[in-house]
Amino acid sequence: MENIKIVLPDIPNLDKWDVYLANGGFEGAKKAFSKTPDEIIDIVKKSGLRGRGGAAFLTGLKWSFMPKTTDKPKYLCVNGDESEPGSFKDRQIFEYNPFQLIEGILITCYAIGANVAYLYIRGEYHKWIKLMQKALDEAYSHGYIGSRMKDTFGIDFSCDIYIHKGAGAYICGEESSLMNSIEGIRPYPRVKPPFPAQKGLWGNPTTINNVETITNVPVIINKGWEWYSSIGAQKHPGTLLFGVSGHVNKPGVYELPTGILLTDLIYNYAGGVPNNKKIKCVIPGGSSMPPLRGDKIEGVKMDAESLKEVGSAIGTGGVIVMDEDTNLVKVLARITKFYYHESCGQCTPCREGTGWMLKTLNRILRDEGTSEDLDLLISVANNIEGNTVCALGDAAAWPVKFMIDRFRDEFEKYVKRNVVIPVPNKVHSMRETAIPLEGIKK
Ligand SMILES: Cc1cc2nc3c(=O)[nH]c(=O)nc-3n(C[C@H](O)[C@H](O)[C@H](O)COP(=O)(O)O)c2cc1C
Ligand code: SF4
Repeated sequence: MENIKIVLPDIPNLDKWDVYLANGGFEGAKKAFSKTPDEIIDIVKKSGLRGRGGAAFLTGLKWSFMPKTTDKPKYLCVNGDESEPGSFKDRQIFEYNPFQLIEGILITCYAIGANVAYLYIRGEYHKWIKLMQKALDEAYSHGYIGSRMKDTFGIDFSCDIYIHKGAGAYICGEESSLMNSIEGIRPYPRVKPPFPAQKGLWGNPTTINNVETITNVPVIINKGWEWYSSIGAQKHPGTLLFGVSGHVNKPGVYELPTGILLTDLIYNYAGGVPNNKKIKCVIPGGSSMPPLRGDKIEGVKMDAESLKEVGSAIGTGGVIVMDEDTNLVKVLARITKFYYHESCGQCTPCREGTGWMLKTLNRILRDEGTSEDLDLLISVANNIEGNTVCALGDAAAWPVKFMIDRFRDEFEKYVKRNVVIPVPNKVHSMRETAIPLEGIKK
């Protein structure tokens, strides 16, 4: 596989201002500023860049939804909330290539006509928030951001970038909650439509993109859409930051062209499975994506279209590998506990359904489950999916629905084990349960 690195190139100290400039830093922005915003949007459209935040939506198309003629201010929100279990890629950009992200923000703001960008970073990322603020301060001090951009780039455009620190709620990564969070109100997801391009931050046109998505932009402008679209999978080009975790010898973030074989990623890059154990299950794109059976991963390619064909999705590219000894009932209960805990509670199917699924899974784990419980779980999941305000509902439903469907044998074995349901051996007497009245005098 060719060693193409777009987002995290192998250049030592790229987080240093001088090193970034010496390696073509801000050349993409300079090129972009010599074109019209429409031309930039067109290049990004033609490049085929898709969002890296989960849904793999076409980035150029999303930008084109922003109104051209409006007297309202426009905004860019850059999503670095990164709370999906299994996803740990954006922090690598904050640490190793912060200026390319800043350059990407400038180009995006120019393309959509925004003068202010909010970089929303997961609150627990103390180290990365500090590093990112340092990079922003440096770019400000050199006049690459803010009011002095006119002198630096010779254009009539300026852009301010502010970091907004999240407080560690998964729901804040959902685009409309993220905007509420920035506005300082309770981060309940908003009902859509209206979409953010129509009515976003403080009711104004807003574009929301993931950190990795935006970091691709300067290279696309610098090297051209033809170059970019020739890398990786045809319908989902470029590279992806694959975060590989679980039962692999070398967990970590690997930047590789899309369309790479899942087995190649696991065995050749992530060092294979410890003790050469077989793989039982792989979740290819973060904990909410439908899991794949280990005996069905041969030939599976890692891009949005290919994963859709095998009944899963690319999500955030967070690959979770589980070996043959893994107890999938426990895994599913753990995943469900996360979504139950993170549900904002706004919609009944999600609020009640996640709790119901968790209780049922716990019952199965206590050896008190039956085959009917498995059908009940699928039925609850089906009632959540598609019936909620935001996609957290689907995120909670999919693992349950697909894990049970694809590993029914394993779940059936679990519920059909020689189960002895503990029965209390004596019924409490009235005396034991009654309020003791001895010693109470009239
Ligand atoms: C519950 C929930 C959490 C999400 N968390 C994130 C996140 O941490 N980072 C992210 O970029 N997108 C997240 N998303 C997706 C965003 O809503 C949005 O689609 C994305 O930021 C768009 O960026 P992209 O087009 O560049 O992919 C989340 C979605 C949901 C439903
Ligand atoms: S689906 Fe869940 S997290 Fe999303 S709005 Fe409804 S209750 Fe909140």
